Amino acid sequence: METYSAPAKIILFGEHAVVYGEPAIAAPFSALQAQVTVMPAPLGSGLSIIGAASGLTLHVSLANDTPDNALVYAAQLVLKALGKPPPDLTLALRSNIPIGGGFGSGAAVSTALMRALSAALGAPLSGEALNNLVYEVEQLHHGTPSGIDNTVIVYEQPVYFVRGTPPETFRVGAPLTFLVVDSGVSASTRETVGDVRQLYTRDRAHYGAIISEIGEIVRTARTLIESGGALEELGALMNANHALLRALSVSSAHLDRLCAAARDGGAYGAKLSGGGRGGSLIALIEPDLAPSIAAALRSAGAAQTWLIQLT
Ligand code: PMV
Repeated sequence: METYSAPAKIILFGEHAVVYGEPAIAAPFSALQAQVTVMPAPLGSGLSIIGAASGLTLHVSLANDTPDNALVYAAQLVLKALGKPPPDLTLALRSNIPIGGGFGSGAAVSTALMRALSAALGAPLSGEALNNLVYEVEQLHHGTPSGIDNTVIVYEQPVYFVRGTPPETFRVGAPLTFLVVDSGVSASTRETVGDVRQLYTRDRAHYGAIISEIGEIVRTARTLIESGGALEELGALMNANHALLRALSVSSAHLDRLCAAARDGGAYGAKLSGGGRGGSLIALIEPDLAPSIAAALRSAGAAQTWLIQLT
């Protein structure tokens, strides 16, 4: 029995603005993973997907063309792309990525599932083909996704992403240490992306200017990350990016409080990461401050924290 996996992701800069053509920076977050194990199934039993945690079994046929279940849809896309009927197999899915946590759970689950199914059919998908198919599933989760989640998760590399252009990776001049924080509140990215769209449609001049300002922050951040050092400046950019996300209505009192707790504890900067209103946040820190800042975050109501280094 083979197991296939895909990591979670964090967005360092530029969420939401990326939907409008501005750049964003994201990195894989491998402490959290989606995994799919391919198991043989009796002859004639067809293709099923089992959720390890829920125990839920989904049967995949090619009949239903527009399923509202993303897992079934992901499997169907692979079968259609490869021109194969459903094989007699069970795909067992488990994931420790919080759903609605801003960690790209949907894209990671689709990626692991599509990797597993295409490999089991003897035709593993190339990175580009997989990325395109995962993006199609993302549209079911998000409505109008920028494509950043699937890109960083499929390629498992830090990316500088501009919608509609080939993803670029970038150099990290000096290691950066982040605390990644699960706020403990799950939130719908589809909803926050929709709300930002409404604001933008209502007052294009005002919200368009905020979106452009975020783009400017992302371009400066890339230069700083590549040249190494300048942690204070990078932290200040994170704080500014968070304030602009708040102006787009996608922060929350809880996220603001958690960011403040990280900054008060000595972080260079902190911002929400992903869709917002809940989900996750990240703080740029000195490694030796990790235990005390993590403790401060937990006292302020964070569900969980992880330390990651971007190198
Ligand atoms: O909530 P997440 O982690 O899936 O973040 C999505 C990032 C957004 O910029 C808010 C939406 C998008 O499609 O890029």
